[in-house]
Amino acid sequence: MTDTGKPLLRVLQGEAVWPPPLWLMRQAGRYLPEFRALRDKADFITRCMTPDLATEITLQPIRRYAMDGAILFSDILILPWAMGQSLEFVQGTGPVLGAIRSEADLARLDPRRVPDATAPVMETLSRLRATLDGPDPIGAAQGGKVALLGFAGAPFTVACYMVEGHGSRDFEATRGMAYANPMLFDRLMDMLTRATADMLCAQIDAGAEAVMLFDSWAGLLPPSQFRRHVIAPTRAIVQEIQARRPGVPVIGFPRLAGIMAAEYARDTGVKVMALDTGTDMAAMAGQVPPDLTLQGNLDPLLLLAGGEAMAAEARSIRDAMKGRPHVFNLGHGVVPPTPPEHVGELVRIVREG
Ligand code: CP3
Repeated sequence: MTDTGKPLLRVLQGEAVWPPPLWLMRQAGRYLPEFRALRDKADFITRCMTPDLATEITLQPIRRYAMDGAILFSDILILPWAMGQSLEFVQGTGPVLGAIRSEADLARLDPRRVPDATAPVMETLSRLRATLDGPDPIGAAQGGKVALLGFAGAPFTVACYMVEGHGSRDFEATRGMAYANPMLFDRLMDMLTRATADMLCAQIDAGAEAVMLFDSWAGLLPPSQFRRHVIAPTRAIVQEIQARRPGVPVIGFPRLAGIMAAEYARDTGVKVMALDTGTDMAAMAGQVPPDLTLQGNLDPLLLLAGGEAMAAEARSIRDAMKGRPHVFNLGHGVVPPTPPEHVGELVRIVREG
């Protein structure tokens, strides 16, 4: 059930709240000493798949900063891993997957494995929800005011890693496959679209109160491909969630979408648009319905820099959105060298109202 007492949920549902609630993408991460301490205990996938560890890591930034939202500690690549694709997070390199380049590669994936393989993630979510909404022995519940967010990668961005086999600046193999072998690419996208909707519904059943779709590489696509591989699958996922779990807000994040962001907002049905650092929030606000919530979009490098420059820009973003539904956040994730005290300072500034 939706708890209307949570400021973040109220805003995600389209209400203007002042000062704006906030959370930060990658708020649990390497910039926190308490995260690094746990990091040495287990590899990344083990941390995601061990409810004790994933719960603890998710709550670390809540305890420290009393954020308005707790985002599940997991990764967008857990879905392909759960379907059977090999995945390893290599120190200094990032994710390495067994690249999908042929029908035979695709045939080795099995979405029916996902519910069992992701059961620990769902267990983490239910523990988190019980902790956040329960009595507060560990100082993480903040009086039942913290909303729990689930997430997935959007199909295009997940396909980028699945086809390429690793991170990339331009994901040439992936975009090349979409043009040269559209049958294969569409089959992969359809598989991901269905599996993502199912997994997000399972996250909601386990306790997530809103879900976010990270489409980090959406901006690589020209408009026709953007409509086909970003807008269409996102719309399908949003419709599925609306039909099966009505009322749960979906946050879309089509990073670097530029001028296509307004079309995304109009055509996907997302309740909330997360904006990247390069987007003028006030200009975007003028192009979308007044009850569409905007989320963002301080430059993570200003959070790294801190000081007056950060304070001024944070106030300017917050004040420009006054009177409309706005969730304060960054335009992309916290970068690892960020001093933790800068995050504390940002939270103080946003809440000074
Ligand atoms: O935001 C959060 O705190 C929740 C957890 C979360 C992680 N990844 C944890 C993580 C979320 C929401 C993600 C999303 C994600 N993962 C995206 C989309 C958002 C974005 O940043 O564009 C993408 C593209 C990935 C894929 C991914 N995961 C990459 C490319 C890497 C390596 C680069 C890096 O940042 O380290 C990861 C690893 C990863 N995911 C880490 C964390 C905390 C670091 C791994 C470690 O600590 O060992």
